[in-house]
Amino acid sequence: MTHHVSAGHDRDSHAHAHGMEQPPDDLVEILDLDAEMFAPYLDSVHRKIADLSEGGVRHIVDLGAGSGTGTFALLRQFPDARVTAVDSSAPMLEQLTRTAAGKNLAARVHPVRADAGKSLPGVSDADLVWASASLHHLDDPAAAMDVIFAALRPGGLLAVAELDGMPYFLPDDAVPDRPGLEARCRTALTSLHAEQVPHLGSDWGTRLAAAGFDIAYEQTGQLRPAAADSPLRERAGRYAYLTLRRIRDAVDGLVEAADLKALDTLLDGGAQDVRHRADLEVRSTRQLWIARRPAGAGS
Ligand SMILES: C[S@@+](CC[C@H](N)C(=O)[O-])C[C@H]1O[C@@H](n2cnc3c(N)ncnc32)[C@H](O)[C@@H]1O
Repeated sequence: MTHHVSAGHDRDSHAHAHGMEQPPDDLVEILDLDAEMFAPYLDSVHRKIADLSEGGVRHIVDLGAGSGTGTFALLRQFPDARVTAVDSSAPMLEQLTRTAAGKNLAARVHPVRADAGKSLPGVSDADLVWASASLHHLDDPAAAMDVIFAALRPGGLLAVAELDGMPYFLPDDAVPDRPGLEARCRTALTSLHAEQVPHLGSDWGTRLAAAGFDIAYEQTGQLRPAAADSPLRERAGRYAYLTLRRIRDAVDGLVEAADLKALDTLLDGGAQDVRHRADLEVRSTRQLWIARRPAGAGS
């Protein structure tokens, strides 16, 4: 779900080396597939927010809304609500706006282009700020907490949904002569993330408390939504393919050539390809904090 593993120039050289056209931007599809895989989890989180909300949820801010996975699920959970969808990426907001129109939800969705870490323009008295896989992208999370705190009404909720990186898909021996392949790629990615997204894996509970929020709920779950016999299997194969393709480009130069070659066998349409493996399983660690701006607290 995190998309910062992409390394554009490596992607290009990989594509050319394999005689392919440059792949289209796959991020929207990755975000949508992730939401599809984890839909029951997302629904349960949104029900938890409904349980904790005091005074109703009518104005929601989706912070770093992306393609709108949170926006549309929250509009289902809260039928009287409208969403201000904030993202710094114009193409993402355009995609979200098109999807809203296609679902006849345009009147309930207000797209705003902004650096959400610096300001949430025009937003005040929000009942809920939903930040899924977005806070770790912000330059200064402490400043962002203050911006969010000010945008919420007293008693309003901030829900932070984070993850430890992209999901895992394969057993240790997926490529028999390169055992531990996926784990080695993750180790290489961790060093990249430390440079590119240093706030990935932050302790958001501590940050929320430091900003004056009361923590109302905290949960960490190891989720396995698509096992070998799941009806989601084919979609899981597609998700694994898009993800591992990004990982392959990102770890080029960081792992041994034999590991890159092994990764290629998972993506080349042959017998080992992740799109039709029987041993594929989506596994991910998801973390959630639901925090409240204390009633009566000044901004
Ligand atoms: C991994 S995606 C998550 C999208 C969505 N929340 C979801 O869970 O499917 C992160 C999103 O945050 C956006 N983003 C990154 N930095 C941002 C910033 N400073 N302000 C607003 N949005 C930002 C990106 O453009 C991207 O759409």
